[in-house]
Amino acid sequence: MSNTLIINNKIKSFKKNITVSGDKSISIRWVLFSSLANGISKARNLLISEDVLASLNAIKKLGIKYKITKKECKIYGQGINGYRYKKNICIDAKNSGTLGRLILGLLINTTNPIKLIGDKSLSKRDFTRISNPLNKFGAKFILTKNKNLPLTITGTIKPKSIKYFENKGSAQCKSSVIFAGMRTEGTTIIKAKKSRNHTELLCQYLKIPLTVKKKKNYDEIKIKKVKNIRTLNYNIPSDISSSAFFIVLTALSKNSELIIKNVNINPSRIGIIHILKKMGVKISFKNSKIYKGEKIADIKVKSPTELKSINCPKKFNSGAIDEFLVIFLAAARAKGISYFKGLSELNQKESPRLEWGAKILNKMGIKNIINNNSIKIYGNPDLKINKSISIKNYLKDHRVFMTSVIAALSFGGYWKIYDKDSIKTSFPNFLQIINGFKKNE
Ligand code: S3P
Repeated sequence: MSNTLIINNKIKSFKKNITVSGDKSISIRWVLFSSLANGISKARNLLISEDVLASLNAIKKLGIKYKITKKECKIYGQGINGYRYKKNICIDAKNSGTLGRLILGLLINTTNPIKLIGDKSLSKRDFTRISNPLNKFGAKFILTKNKNLPLTITGTIKPKSIKYFENKGSAQCKSSVIFAGMRTEGTTIIKAKKSRNHTELLCQYLKIPLTVKKKKNYDEIKIKKVKNIRTLNYNIPSDISSSAFFIVLTALSKNSELIIKNVNINPSRIGIIHILKKMGVKISFKNSKIYKGEKIADIKVKSPTELKSINCPKKFNSGAIDEFLVIFLAAARAKGISYFKGLSELNQKESPRLEWGAKILNKMGIKNIINNNSIKIYGNPDLKINKSISIKNYLKDHRVFMTSVIAALSFGGYWKIYDKDSIKTSFPNFLQIINGFKKNE
Protein backbone atom coordinates (compact mmCIF):
# COMPACT_ATOMS: atom_id res chain seq x y z
CA MET A 1 0.00 0.00 0.00
CA SER A 2 1.24 3.49 -0.81
CA ASN A 3 2.73 5.47 2.02
CA THR A 4 1.55 8.75 0.47
CA LEU A 5 -1.88 10.21 1.02
CA ILE A 6 -3.58 12.28 -1.67
CA ILE A 7 -6.43 14.60 -0.68
CA ASN A 8 -8.20 16.74 -3.27
CA ASN A 9 -11.66 17.21 -1.76
CA LYS A 10 -12.84 19.45 1.01
CA ILE A 11 -15.13 18.06 3.66
CA LYS A 12 -18.84 19.08 3.74
CA SER A 13 -20.81 19.90 6.88
CA PHE A 14 -21.27 17.12 9.39
CA LYS A 15 -22.96 16.13 12.65
CA LYS A 16 -20.96 13.39 14.30
CA ASN A 17 -20.23 11.45 17.44
CA ILE A 18 -16.74 9.97 17.61
CA THR A 19 -14.37 8.25 20.01
CA VAL A 20 -10.62 8.71 19.60
CA SER A 21 -7.96 6.38 20.96
CA GLY A 22 -6.48 6.27 24.48
CA ASP A 23 -4.36 9.05 25.96
CA LYS A 24 -0.68 8.59 25.07
CA SER A 25 0.79 10.28 28.15
CA ILE A 26 -1.35 8.19 30.49
CA SER A 27 -0.79 4.96 28.51
CA ILE A 28 3.02 5.28 28.77
CA ARG A 29 2.82 6.19 32.45
CA TRP A 30 0.48 3.25 33.11
CA VAL A 31 3.09 0.92 31.58
CA LEU A 32 5.92 2.35 33.69
CA PHE A 33 4.07 2.45 37.02
CA SER A 34 2.60 -1.04 36.46
CA SER A 35 6.07 -2.40 35.72
CA LEU A 36 7.03 -1.45 39.31
CA ALA A 37 3.87 -2.69 41.01
CA ASN A 38 3.56 -5.74 43.22
CA GLY A 39 1.41 -7.98 41.02
CA ILE A 40 -0.73 -7.86 37.89
CA SER A 41 -2.07 -4.54 36.62
CA LYS A 42 -4.68 -4.31 33.86
CA ALA A 43 -5.50 -1.50 31.43
CA ARG A 44 -8.48 -1.14 29.14
CA ASN A 45 -8.39 1.17 26.11
CA LEU A 46 -4.59 1.35 26.31
CA LEU A 47 -3.32 3.22 23.25
CA ILE A 48 -1.85 0.52 21.03
CA SER A 49 0.59 2.68 19.09
CA GLU A 50 4.32 2.45 18.41
CA ASP A 51 5.23 4.74 21.33
CA VAL A 52 3.31 2.56 23.78
CA LEU A 53 4.52 -0.72 22.24
CA ALA A 54 8.07 0.62 22.59
CA SER A 55 7.31 1.22 26.29
CA LEU A 56 6.07 -2.36 26.71
CA ASN A 57 9.17 -3.68 24.94
CA ALA A 58 11.37 -1.54 27.17
CA ILE A 59 10.01 -3.08 30.38
CA LYS A 60 10.28 -6.53 28.77
CA LYS A 61 14.02 -5.90 28.30
CA LEU A 62 14.12 -5.24 32.06
CA GLY A 63 12.53 -8.62 32.80
CA ILE A 64 8.89 -7.55 33.17
CA LYS A 65 6.28 -9.57 31.28
CA TYR A 66 3.15 -8.25 29.60
CA LYS A 67 0.24 -9.65 27.63
CA ILE A 68 -2.07 -7.87 25.21
CA THR A 69 -5.51 -9.28 24.39
CA LYS A 70 -8.44 -7.64 22.59
CA LYS A 71 -10.02 -6.75 25.92
CA GLU A 72 -7.04 -5.49 27.91
CA CYS A 73 -3.32 -5.30 28.51
CA LYS A 74 -1.79 -6.98 31.58
CA ILE A 75 1.58 -6.21 33.14
CA TYR A 76 3.13 -8.65 35.58
CA GLY A 77 4.92 -6.25 37.94
CA GLN A 78 7.73 -7.59 40.15
CA GLY A 79 7.77 -4.75 42.67
CA ILE A 80 9.74 -1.51 42.88
CA ASN A 81 13.06 -3.40 42.72
CA GLY A 82 11.89 -5.96 40.18
CA TYR A 83 13.90 -4.81 37.13
CA ARG A 84 16.64 -7.24 36.11
CA TYR A 85 19.67 -5.27 34.93
CA LYS A 86 21.40 -7.85 32.73
CA LYS A 87 24.54 -7.06 30.75
CA ASN A 88 24.21 -5.33 27.34
CA ILE A 89 20.60 -4.19 27.60
CA CYS A 90 19.61 -1.84 24.79
CA ILE A 91 16.28 -0.02 25.01
CA ASP A 92 14.80 1.38 21.80
CA ALA A 93 12.51 4.33 22.55
CA LYS A 94 11.78 4.65 18.80
CA ASN A 95 10.01 8.02 18.31
CA SER A 96 8.99 8.52 21.93
CA GLY A 97 10.53 11.38 23.90
CA THR A 98 8.21 10.55 26.77
CA LEU A 99 9.41 6.95 27.03
CA GLY A 100 13.08 7.82 26.44
CA ARG A 101 13.11 10.54 29.06
CA LEU A 102 10.84 9.05 31.73
CA ILE A 103 12.47 5.64 31.79
CA LEU A 104 15.92 7.09 32.46
CA GLY A 105 14.65 8.25 35.86
CA LEU A 106 13.77 4.66 36.72
CA LEU A 107 17.16 3.41 35.55
CA ILE A 108 19.28 5.53 37.94
CA ASN A 109 20.02 2.40 39.99
CA THR A 110 21.08 0.14 37.11
CA THR A 111 24.11 -1.91 38.08
CA ASN A 112 25.05 -2.56 34.44
CA PRO A 113 25.28 0.15 31.77
CA ILE A 114 22.11 0.40 29.64
CA LYS A 115 22.06 1.81 26.13
CA LEU A 116 19.15 3.98 24.98
CA ILE A 117 18.52 4.44 21.27
CA GLY A 118 15.76 6.03 19.21
CA ASP A 119 14.70 6.77 15.64
CA LYS A 120 16.07 9.61 13.48
CA SER A 121 13.74 12.19 15.04
CA LEU A 122 14.40 11.21 18.68
CA SER A 123 18.15 11.06 17.97
CA LYS A 124 18.07 14.78 17.18
CA ARG A 125 16.40 15.73 20.47
CA ASP A 126 18.04 17.10 23.60
CA PHE A 127 18.80 14.57 26.33
CA THR A 128 21.01 16.80 28.50
CA ARG A 129 17.77 18.14 29.98
CA ILE A 130 17.49 14.68 31.58
CA SER A 131 21.15 13.67 32.04
CA ASN A 132 21.93 16.92 33.92
CA PRO A 133 19.48 16.40 36.81
CA LEU A 134 20.04 12.61 36.88
CA ASN A 135 23.80 13.21 37.09
CA LYS A 136 23.19 14.99 40.37
CA PHE A 137 21.54 11.85 41.77
CA GLY A 138 24.82 10.07 40.95
CA ALA A 139 24.02 8.41 37.59
CA LYS A 140 26.60 8.71 34.80
CA PHE A 141 25.88 9.29 31.12
CA ILE A 142 27.73 8.99 27.85
CA LEU A 143 25.97 10.93 25.09
CA THR A 144 26.97 11.65 21.49
CA LYS A 145 29.07 14.72 20.68
CA ASN A 146 25.85 16.63 20.01
CA LYS A 147 24.48 15.52 23.38
CA ASN A 148 21.84 13.27 21.88
CA LEU A 149 21.03 9.56 21.54
CA PRO A 150 22.39 6.94 21.50
CA LEU A 151 23.31 7.32 25.14
CA THR A 152 24.51 4.99 27.86
CA ILE A 153 23.42 5.33 31.47
CA THR A 154 25.32 3.79 34.36
CA GLY A 155 23.43 3.98 37.61
CA THR A 156 24.36 4.18 41.24
CA ILE A 157 23.21 1.89 44.06
CA LYS A 158 22.98 4.82 46.45
CA PRO A 159 21.35 7.76 44.63
CA LYS A 160 21.48 11.08 46.49
CA SER A 161 18.33 13.20 46.75
CA ILE A 162 18.46 16.53 44.90
CA LYS A 163 16.86 19.94 44.61
CA TYR A 164 15.90 20.61 41.02
CA PHE A 165 14.44 23.63 39.23
CA GLU A 166 12.51 22.55 36.14
CA ASN A 167 12.22 25.81 34.20
CA LYS A 168 11.13 24.70 30.73
CA GLY A 169 7.62 23.56 31.65
CA SER A 170 8.56 20.03 30.59
CA ALA A 171 6.47 17.24 32.10
CA GLN A 172 9.00 14.76 30.76
CA CYS A 173 11.85 16.31 32.78
CA LYS A 174 9.69 16.69 35.88
CA SER A 175 8.44 13.08 35.65
CA SER A 176 11.89 11.63 35.08
CA VAL A 177 13.14 13.33 38.27
CA ILE A 178 10.04 12.15 40.19
CA PHE A 179 10.83 8.57 39.10
CA ALA A 180 14.46 8.95 40.20
CA GLY A 181 13.24 10.44 43.51
CA MET A 182 11.12 7.31 44.06
CA ARG A 183 14.37 5.29 44.19
CA THR A 184 16.26 7.71 46.46
CA GLU A 185 16.68 8.01 50.26
CA GLY A 186 15.72 11.41 51.65
CA THR A 187 13.44 13.97 50.03
CA THR A 188 13.85 15.12 46.43
CA ILE A 189 12.46 18.61 45.94
CA ILE A 190 11.36 19.85 42.52
CA LYS A 191 10.36 23.39 41.71
CA ALA A 192 8.56 22.91 38.41
CA LYS A 193 7.10 25.36 35.93
CA LYS A 194 3.49 24.33 35.22
CA SER A 195 3.11 21.33 32.90
CA ARG A 196 0.86 18.27 32.57
CA ASN A 197 0.53 16.54 35.95
CA HIS A 198 -0.43 12.93 35.14
CA THR A 199 2.63 11.55 36.97
CA GLU A 200 1.76 13.42 40.17
CA LEU A 201 -1.89 12.32 39.98
CA LEU A 202 -0.89 8.69 39.53
CA CYS A 203 1.54 8.92 42.46
CA GLN A 204 -1.21 10.34 44.62
CA TYR A 205 -3.70 7.68 43.52
CA LEU A 206 -1.13 4.96 44.28
CA LYS A 207 -0.37 6.52 47.69
CA ILE A 208 3.26 7.09 46.75
CA PRO A 209 4.82 9.63 49.19
CA LEU A 210 4.61 12.68 46.92
CA THR A 211 3.24 16.09 47.83
CA VAL A 212 2.49 19.05 45.58
CA LYS A 213 2.21 22.67 46.73
CA LYS A 214 0.70 24.80 43.99
CA LYS A 215 2.31 28.25 43.77
CA LYS A 216 1.29 30.94 41.29
CA ASN A 217 3.86 30.20 38.57
CA TYR A 218 5.23 26.84 39.59
CA ASP A 219 4.57 23.73 41.66
CA GLU A 220 6.73 22.59 44.55
CA ILE A 221 6.89 18.80 44.49
CA LYS A 222 8.42 16.64 47.20
CA ILE A 223 9.02 12.94 46.65
CA LYS A 224 10.42 10.30 49.00
CA LYS A 225 11.73 6.80 48.48
CA VAL A 226 8.99 4.29 47.65
CA LYS A 227 8.87 0.80 49.21
CA ASN A 228 5.84 -0.69 47.49
CA ILE A 229 3.54 0.19 44.61
CA ARG A 230 0.12 -1.39 44.47
CA THR A 231 -1.30 -2.68 41.19
CA LEU A 232 -2.99 -0.22 38.88
CA ASN A 233 -6.14 -1.15 36.98
CA TYR A 234 -6.98 1.68 34.60
CA ASN A 235 -9.63 2.49 31.99
CA ILE A 236 -7.63 4.88 29.87
CA PRO A 237 -9.64 7.91 28.67
CA SER A 238 -9.36 9.31 25.14
CA ASP A 239 -6.56 11.69 24.23
CA ILE A 240 -7.27 15.44 24.01
CA SER A 241 -4.24 15.77 21.69
CA SER A 242 -5.81 13.31 19.23
CA SER A 243 -9.22 14.97 19.68
CA ALA A 244 -7.61 18.32 18.78
CA PHE A 245 -7.51 17.52 15.05
CA PHE A 246 -11.28 16.90 14.95
CA ILE A 247 -12.04 19.91 17.15
CA VAL A 248 -10.20 22.15 14.69
CA LEU A 249 -11.81 20.37 11.71
CA THR A 250 -15.18 21.36 13.20
CA ALA A 251 -13.97 24.91 13.91
CA LEU A 252 -13.01 25.23 10.22
CA SER A 253 -16.28 23.75 8.88
CA LYS A 254 -19.68 25.36 8.32
CA ASN A 255 -22.88 24.28 10.12
CA SER A 256 -21.18 21.33 11.77
CA GLU A 257 -21.34 19.71 15.18
CA LEU A 258 -19.14 17.16 16.85
CA ILE A 259 -19.19 15.18 20.08
CA ILE A 260 -16.02 13.38 21.20
CA LYS A 261 -16.70 10.87 23.94
CA ASN A 262 -14.85 10.27 27.19
CA VAL A 263 -11.84 12.57 26.72
CA ASN A 264 -9.23 13.38 29.37
CA ILE A 265 -9.77 17.09 30.06
CA ASN A 266 -7.14 17.44 32.78
CA PRO A 267 -6.86 21.25 33.31
CA SER A 268 -3.14 21.04 32.43
CA ARG A 269 -4.03 19.72 28.94
CA ILE A 270 -6.90 21.90 27.70
CA GLY A 271 -5.03 24.95 26.40
CA ILE A 272 -6.56 24.30 22.96
CA ILE A 273 -10.08 24.61 24.40
CA HIS A 274 -9.28 27.99 26.02
CA ILE A 275 -7.63 29.26 22.83
CA LEU A 276 -10.38 28.17 20.43
CA LYS A 277 -13.11 29.51 22.73
CA LYS A 278 -11.38 32.90 22.66
CA MET A 279 -11.37 32.62 18.86
CA GLY A 280 -15.14 32.18 18.85
CA VAL A 281 -15.62 28.40 18.73
CA LYS A 282 -18.47 27.06 20.89
CA ILE A 283 -17.10 24.24 23.00
CA SER A 284 -18.71 22.65 26.04
CA PHE A 285 -18.09 19.67 28.32
CA LYS A 286 -20.85 17.13 29.01
CA ASN A 287 -20.99 14.23 31.49
CA SER A 288 -17.91 15.45 33.40
CA LYS A 289 -16.52 13.13 36.05
CA ILE A 290 -13.34 12.49 38.01
CA TYR A 291 -11.56 9.18 37.44
CA LYS A 292 -8.48 8.31 39.51
CA GLY A 293 -7.79 12.04 39.92
CA GLU A 294 -8.18 12.82 36.18
CA LYS A 295 -11.04 14.92 34.81
CA ILE A 296 -12.97 13.28 31.98
CA ALA A 297 -15.86 14.53 29.82
CA ASP A 298 -17.52 14.40 26.41
CA ILE A 299 -16.47 17.41 24.34
CA LYS A 300 -19.13 19.13 22.25
CA VAL A 301 -17.98 21.48 19.47
CA LYS A 302 -20.07 23.70 17.16
CA SER A 303 -18.60 25.38 14.11
CA PRO A 304 -18.56 29.18 14.44
CA THR A 305 -19.90 31.61 11.81
CA GLU A 306 -16.56 33.40 11.97
CA LEU A 307 -13.20 32.88 13.66
CA LYS A 308 -11.59 35.74 15.59
CA SER A 309 -7.83 36.30 15.67
CA ILE A 310 -6.05 35.90 19.00
CA ASN A 311 -3.12 37.43 20.84
CA CYS A 312 -2.53 34.15 22.62
CA PRO A 313 -1.71 34.54 26.34
CA LYS A 314 1.47 32.64 27.27
CA LYS A 315 -0.37 31.02 30.17
CA PHE A 316 -2.09 28.71 27.62
CA ASN A 317 1.19 27.50 26.08
CA SER A 318 1.97 24.55 28.30
CA GLY A 319 -1.59 23.19 28.17
CA ALA A 320 -1.63 23.40 24.37
CA ILE A 321 2.00 22.49 23.66
CA ASP A 322 1.18 19.52 21.39
CA GLU A 323 -1.68 21.30 19.63
CA PHE A 324 -0.13 24.47 18.19
CA LEU A 325 0.36 23.16 14.65
CA VAL A 326 -3.35 22.52 14.27
CA ILE A 327 -4.27 25.70 16.20
CA PHE A 328 -2.29 27.68 13.59
CA LEU A 329 -4.82 26.44 10.99
CA ALA A 330 -7.63 28.11 12.94
CA ALA A 331 -5.54 31.32 12.96
CA ALA A 332 -5.12 30.98 9.17
CA ARG A 333 -8.90 31.24 8.73
CA ALA A 334 -9.39 33.94 11.42
CA LYS A 335 -10.18 37.57 10.73
CA GLY A 336 -7.07 39.59 11.63
CA ILE A 337 -3.56 38.90 12.83
CA SER A 338 -2.96 36.23 15.48
CA TYR A 339 0.14 36.20 17.65
CA PHE A 340 1.60 33.22 19.49
CA LYS A 341 4.70 33.81 21.64
CA GLY A 342 7.04 32.09 24.12
CA LEU A 343 7.06 28.94 22.01
CA SER A 344 10.76 28.02 21.70
CA GLU A 345 9.94 24.57 23.18
CA LEU A 346 7.95 23.80 20.01
CA ASN A 347 11.19 23.46 18.09
CA GLN A 348 12.27 20.73 20.56
CA LYS A 349 9.50 18.33 19.51
CA GLU A 350 9.45 15.39 17.06
CA SER A 351 10.28 17.95 14.34
CA PRO A 352 11.05 21.67 14.75
CA ARG A 353 7.33 22.38 14.95
CA LEU A 354 7.33 26.16 14.99
CA GLU A 355 9.27 26.03 11.71
CA TRP A 356 6.91 23.40 10.32
CA GLY A 357 3.87 25.46 11.32
CA ALA A 358 5.29 28.34 9.27
CA LYS A 359 6.17 26.04 6.36
CA ILE A 360 2.64 24.64 6.13
CA LEU A 361 1.14 28.15 6.29
CA ASN A 362 3.56 29.37 3.59
CA LYS A 363 2.55 26.50 1.33
CA MET A 364 -1.10 27.43 1.91
CA GLY A 365 -0.41 31.04 0.97
CA ILE A 366 -0.90 32.45 4.48
CA LYS A 367 1.47 35.26 5.37
CA ASN A 368 3.31 34.71 8.64
CA ILE A 369 6.38 35.98 10.43
CA ILE A 370 8.36 33.72 12.72
CA ASN A 371 11.43 33.93 14.89
CA ASN A 372 12.74 31.24 17.20
CA ASN A 373 9.94 31.56 19.73
CA SER A 374 6.97 33.32 18.20
CA ILE A 375 4.77 33.45 15.13
CA LYS A 376 2.42 36.09 13.72
CA ILE A 377 -0.24 34.71 11.43
CA TYR A 378 -2.11 36.97 9.01
CA GLY A 379 -5.49 35.23 8.80
CA ASN A 380 -7.59 35.11 5.64
CA PRO A 381 -11.26 34.15 6.21
CA ASP A 382 -11.76 33.80 2.43
CA LEU A 383 -8.80 31.51 1.76
CA LYS A 384 -9.51 28.84 -0.86
CA ILE A 385 -6.54 26.79 -2.04
CA ASN A 386 -6.50 25.82 -5.73
CA LYS A 387 -2.93 24.60 -6.13
CA SER A 388 -0.87 21.48 -5.41
CA ILE A 389 0.84 21.19 -2.04
CA SER A 390 3.34 18.54 -1.08
CA ILE A 391 4.36 17.74 2.51
CA LYS A 392 7.51 15.65 2.91
CA ASN A 393 10.83 15.33 4.80
CA TYR A 394 9.28 16.33 8.09
CA LEU A 395 11.05 13.66 10.20
CA LYS A 396 7.79 11.68 10.18
CA ASP A 397 6.33 13.97 12.82
CA HIS A 398 2.85 12.48 13.33
CA ARG A 399 1.38 15.87 14.16
CA VAL A 400 2.71 17.46 10.94
CA PHE A 401 0.98 14.68 8.99
CA MET A 402 -2.36 14.99 10.80
CA THR A 403 -2.33 18.80 10.66
CA SER A 404 -1.77 18.63 6.89
CA VAL A 405 -4.76 16.31 6.52
CA ILE A 406 -7.00 18.76 8.42
CA ALA A 407 -5.67 21.66 6.30
CA ALA A 408 -6.39 19.76 3.07
CA LEU A 409 -9.94 18.83 4.13
CA SER A 410 -10.69 22.38 5.33
CA PHE A 411 -9.07 24.69 2.76
CA GLY A 412 -9.07 22.59 -0.45
CA GLY A 413 -6.27 22.17 -3.00
CA TYR A 414 -4.47 19.05 -4.17
CA TRP A 415 -2.39 17.74 -1.27
CA LYS A 416 0.22 15.04 -1.48
CA ILE A 417 1.21 14.10 2.08
CA TYR A 418 4.13 11.67 2.41
CA ASP A 419 4.92 9.14 5.18
CA LYS A 420 1.40 8.13 6.14
CA ASP A 421 2.86 5.58 8.57
CA SER A 422 3.96 8.44 10.86
CA ILE A 423 0.51 8.28 12.52
CA LYS A 424 1.39 4.88 13.98
CA THR A 425 3.33 6.56 16.78
CA SER A 426 0.30 8.18 18.43
CA PHE A 427 -2.94 7.62 16.53
CA PRO A 428 -2.98 4.56 14.24
CA ASN A 429 -6.72 4.80 13.44
CA PHE A 430 -6.68 8.53 12.62
CA LEU A 431 -7.39 7.99 8.91
CA GLN A 432 -10.15 5.49 9.66
CA ILE A 433 -11.96 8.17 11.67
CA ILE A 434 -11.29 10.74 8.92
CA ASN A 435 -12.85 8.36 6.38
CA GLY A 436 -15.99 8.23 8.56
CA PHE A 437 -16.31 12.01 8.04
CA LYS A 438 -15.98 11.63 4.28
CA LYS A 439 -18.80 9.03 4.18
CA ASN A 440 -21.00 11.64 5.77
CA GLU A 441 -20.92 13.77 2.62
C1 S3P B 1 4.61 14.73 27.38
C2 S3P B 1 5.13 15.97 27.66
C3 S3P B 1 5.32 17.01 26.63
C4 S3P B 1 4.59 16.68 25.34
C5 S3P B 1 4.76 15.24 24.94
C6 S3P B 1 4.20 14.33 26.03
C7 S3P B 1 4.43 13.78 28.50
O1 S3P B 1 6.71 17.11 26.35
O2 S3P B 1 5.02 17.52 24.30
O3 S3P B 1 4.07 14.98 23.73
O4 S3P B 1 3.68 12.79 28.35
O5 S3P B 1 5.04 13.99 29.56
P1 S3P B 1 7.70 18.03 27.22
O6 S3P B 1 7.73 17.47 28.58
O7 S3P B 1 9.03 17.96 26.56
O8 S3P B 1 7.13 19.41 27.16
